[in-house]
Amino acid sequence: MKITTIILAAGKGTRMRSELPKILHKIANRPLLQHVYDMCQQLENNTIKIVYGHGADLVRESLQDLEAGWIEQKQQLGTGHAVQQVSDQIADAETVLILYGDVPLLKLTTVKQLTANVNDLSLALLTVNLENPTGYGRIVRDESGRVAKIVEEKDASSTEKLIKEGNTGIMAVQGGQLKKWLNRLTNNNVQGEYYLTDIIEMAVADGIAIVTSQPETVDEVLGVNNRIQLSHLERVYQLEQANYLMEQGVTLMDPARFDLRGSIEMLGIDIICDVNVIIEGKNSIGNNVKIGANTHIKNSIISDNVEILANCVIDNAVIGEGSKIGPYARLRPETVLAEHVHIGNFVEIKKSSIAASSKINHLSYIGDATVGAQVNIGAGTITCNYDGVNKFRTIIEDGAFIGSDTQLIAPVTIGKNATIGAGSTITKDSPENQLTLSRAKQVSIANWQRPVKHD
Ligand code: UD1
Ligand code: CA
Repeated sequence: MKITTIILAAGKGTRMRSELPKILHKIANRPLLQHVYDMCQQLENNTIKIVYGHGADLVRESLQDLEAGWIEQKQQLGTGHAVQQVSDQIADAETVLILYGDVPLLKLTTVKQLTANVNDLSLALLTVNLENPTGYGRIVRDESGRVAKIVEEKDASSTEKLIKEGNTGIMAVQGGQLKKWLNRLTNNNVQGEYYLTDIIEMAVADGIAIVTSQPETVDEVLGVNNRIQLSHLERVYQLEQANYLMEQGVTLMDPARFDLRGSIEMLGIDIICDVNVIIEGKNSIGNNVKIGANTHIKNSIISDNVEILANCVIDNAVIGEGSKIGPYARLRPETVLAEHVHIGNFVEIKKSSIAASSKINHLSYIGDATVGAQVNIGAGTITCNYDGVNKFRTIIEDGAFIGSDTQLIAPVTIGKNATIGAGSTITKDSPENQLTLSRAKQVSIANWQRPVKHD
């Protein structure tokens, strides 16, 4: 069966109190609408149409990569009016699935159930039993328990308001029938809107059965109307991801203090994450990796047996097997570390490759450098890679030893097994196997008197 999914996303979201259209607010760094889109993209034989309106330019610009039919609803005259905008693109024989762009955590299984319940004689409606259904349309059933209609909160009588079964707004319906009912909608109600929900009563009158189903959890059908609801769904989503990772063999010291804002495409086992770890973008993490508290990892590849100590920031970096990072290290984009590299506290590495078993343990800046294997870089070493206009490379060959507090003025090459004396400013290439240093001769003044204070 062919499916057309219509995602309603034209609303303003006044209660967000934001310049940003509601559907562009994010959960796990992904816009609300993108969550809905990604989920229904997994449906087979499905065409996606997005009805947008409020913040039209920004919405189109921000989500231009989404492959969908975009239909602008210039004036937001109600959910029925929104679906009417797509009417002429709906085929009679297909199933139309209606979703909301601000209900981000709806599950594929729930949606599949709905589409399976549709045929020429039945319409599928997703309802939810709520402790407090305030604000929701109520599902009105007849004496035999069959759905008779949906009444909006604002149009409901006091007895109808007691109904706990709410309308999620999500439904699936046969295309030809939907179009017929859409044509008959009026805005004769308290809000003066064209309610999509009015098609239920029309369907019943046409002898169509309303088949209801319910989501596994209420959170699945919650919409975002304000930032409190946004944060609630962020936590729900994060906990779902945390649970999934734990099932896959990851230890999280506290799943409530773990955030994945992206994906881990290759995931090893026996990874241990301390609290407040944030993982962003696309990553790969190998077996037996330890990640210390308060560490932020983004778009990085972390190989087996790596240990990252607390408070590191790792961005677009590759870390080779058995390497040890931190605490307080910063790996910036295009950092590539081979196996068993040690990067210690207050070390910043940018656009540099460091070969196997090299150590940069304290207070250094290594930028635009190619560092060989078994190199030892002493505390306070700085590659002076920038003259204020251009950037230059530093090459440090295998086995070199750089004494503490050294400035390497790029472009410069330190030869194989060279030793640089501490406190040097190196402006010229340093030959292999030799000791190179640039240091003023140390002098001591005998009989020197300390100044005394004048009255
Ligand atoms: C709607 C339902 C209500 C249900 C509730 C669930 C109707 C008449 N009522 O009410 O039964 O319990 O959702 O949350 O359908 N939208 C547009 N264009 C419009 C109006 C809305 O695209 O002209 C979009 C909104 O962006 C939103 C969705 O449709 O994503 C729902 O709109 P909203 O105004 O939140 O509907 P409710 O009044 O809450
Ligand atoms: Ca709503």
